Amino acid sequence: MQESDISADFFDTASAAPLAAAIHGQCFKSGWSEKDFVSAFGIPGTVLEVLSLTDQPVAIALYRQVVDEAEILTLGTMPAYREKGLAGQLLERGFHYLRRNKVAFLYLEVGVENIPAQRLYTSKGFIETGQRPNYYNHGAAYEDALMMKRSL
Ligand SMILES: CC(C)(COP(=O)(O)OP(=O)(O)OC[C@H]1O[C@@H](n2cnc3c(N)ncnc32)[C@H](O)[C@@H]1OP(=O)(O)O)[C@@H](O)C(=O)NCCC(=O)NCCS
Repeated sequence: MQESDISADFFDTASAAPLAAAIHGQCFKSGWSEKDFVSAFGIPGTVLEVLSLTDQPVAIALYRQVVDEAEILTLGTMPAYREKGLAGQLLERGFHYLRRNKVAFLYLEVGVENIPAQRLYTSKGFIETGQRPNYYNHGAAYEDALMMKRSL
């Protein structure tokens, strides 16, 4: 895999909802529907990043910006493409885009049991700022979230 094979595109309208839902559905057990993404794009400041490898979409991140702060609403790499550094590339290119849009601080929540995602965020400079008890509802069980922050 060469870095020149990787590209990132950014979308801020609901026209990207079908693509977002298709990738998200492969990344998560309960992926967001097209309708969920249409609703998300209805809120100003929402931007989808799609990372492609030789023009094949492989990872996404959804950001929401308010003034000089932004949040990662969701992020994932398709299973066949994991542990190749692609989520790292997704974040690096996302940081660049957000900086150009005058974002100074980026926030996120991650499950306390989600070790791959915590490794990703720590390696990309996020620091833990607190915890949200029972933040994720998995039906039969709840999971706490770590709150993380990175200055851009
Ligand atoms: C978390 C996730 C996005 C990582 O994507 P990825 O493309 O495999 O990540 P990368 O290859 O860029 O790896 C980034 C770092 O995480 C580490 N990592 C990735 N997968 C890992 C795993 N299964 N176990 C341990 N560490 C892991 C890598 O070693 C790397 O660390 P390093 O920078 O110190 O070398 C991916 O596993 C995923 O989509 N999971 C399901 C959705 C999800 O949980 N999203 C996060 C919600 S907050």
